[in-house]
Amino acid sequence: MICNNLGINEKGHLTFAGHDTVDLAEKYQTPAYIMDENKIREKCRIYKKAMSEFFGGNSMPLFASKSLCFKRIYEIMKEEEMGIDVVSPGELYTAVKAGFPMERAYFHGNNKTDFDIAFAIENGIGYFVCDNVEELDAIDREAGNKGIKQKIILRLTPGIDPHTHAKISTGNVDSKFGAAIETGQAKELVELALSKKNIALMGYHCHIGSQIFEYDPFCDAAVIMIKFIADMKTELGFEASVLNLGGGMGVKYVESDPEIDYAKNIEGIADLVKSECAKLGVTMPTILMEPGRSIVADAGLTLYTAGTRKEIKGFKNYVSIDGGMPDNPRYALYQSAYTVMVANKANEEADYECTIAGRCCESGDLIQEGVKIPKPERGDTIAVLTTGAYNFAMSSNYNAICKPPVIMLDGEKDYVAVKRESFDDLIARQV
Ligand code: LLP
Repeated sequence: MICNNLGINEKGHLTFAGHDTVDLAEKYQTPAYIMDENKIREKCRIYKKAMSEFFGGNSMPLFASKSLCFKRIYEIMKEEEMGIDVVSPGELYTAVKAGFPMERAYFHGNNKTDFDIAFAIENGIGYFVCDNVEELDAIDREAGNKGIKQKIILRLTPGIDPHTHAKISTGNVDSKFGAAIETGQAKELVELALSKKNIALMGYHCHIGSQIFEYDPFCDAAVIMIKFIADMKTELGFEASVLNLGGGMGVKYVESDPEIDYAKNIEGIADLVKSECAKLGVTMPTILMEPGRSIVADAGLTLYTAGTRKEIKGFKNYVSIDGGMPDNPRYALYQSAYTVMVANKANEEADYECTIAGRCCESGDLIQEGVKIPKPERGDTIAVLTTGAYNFAMSSNYNAICKPPVIMLDGEKDYVAVKRESFDDLIARQV
């Protein structure tokens, strides 16, 4: 099994966090997102412990809530004493409504509007991760209006190109995010930030991409960022006290993916950061990281019910499920790999090769191609594993399909964190 919260019980059913998934499918109906609350907490603690042990000081992980955003998640993040990164006023609002302490919130985005900026300041945002010159001007203006000095860090691109899908790679010079160090624009942004009366520049941020298995790109980025801190200290007399290294550590989706030891990676990056700081005469900054996927991905799975089976003789087999790209667009977008199981036949031989198709009126609506599972019958429960990150968060109502609920598992308990959308919800905003 790809994660230790999965198992098979005496009935031959797939279990998740100790719960029989077939029973869950019956109780809550399908499709349904199922989340293992204790796995989320365990991952938060791994990051928190390793960061405070190896980086020391006030170093802390910020949960990248673009990967999973609803009120209960922010409550859990508050209880686990995590920080958060938000990327829209909607995420920010959800966090506020959940009672998250906003001084530990960092507001991202390459195109924050004047409304977003004012809204964030009104709600006591801790830091802006400022992306560009226009935004710097707008934050300065709005902070001035509100009579405060706003803390910010600057988003920079270190020029790293990690091996991941092009659509989720962000740290190279050709990116819509941040200011490039290589072109001199990062330095210009620092100078401008330092000249602003209502802005307190605290440091820098970089994020090189997502679902990265290698460890070297993170080290390369850290080295470049510390060199930049040293250069700005020498050239402008400004020494950053905060360095945010972003998120991006990979997650095991299928057997062939490696398993990452997050604490060990953090230890290695910390050793390097410390030695680079010592070498360049820089005071060790407070280090922040922004994991999203690696906190919640394997804390989730999606349950579906098998419907039609279409066998095209001598060519291929399709198994259609009662969900698809509206609840998980990741295969359609990035050809993402997933492990698929027949939850009520978890012990049976996986010898039926098929493509798992959704129910949308579009051929690209696939969840996975060429998987091997026990031959499913109509009514069987299909589980797609590791869907905790960027599934609920990226879900849509394409084809006017209602979004699934989010069911949380906590020890023996199971409870609804987000209700299933109803037809009335679908038309609620229509006049
Ligand atoms: N920080 C920043 C600034 C980011 O842009 C991201 C992800 C993260 C942190 C969190 O990265 P993580 O630890 O989750 O890899 N929708 C895509 C992923 C997009 C990632 C966007 N940024 C997917 O489904 O794979």
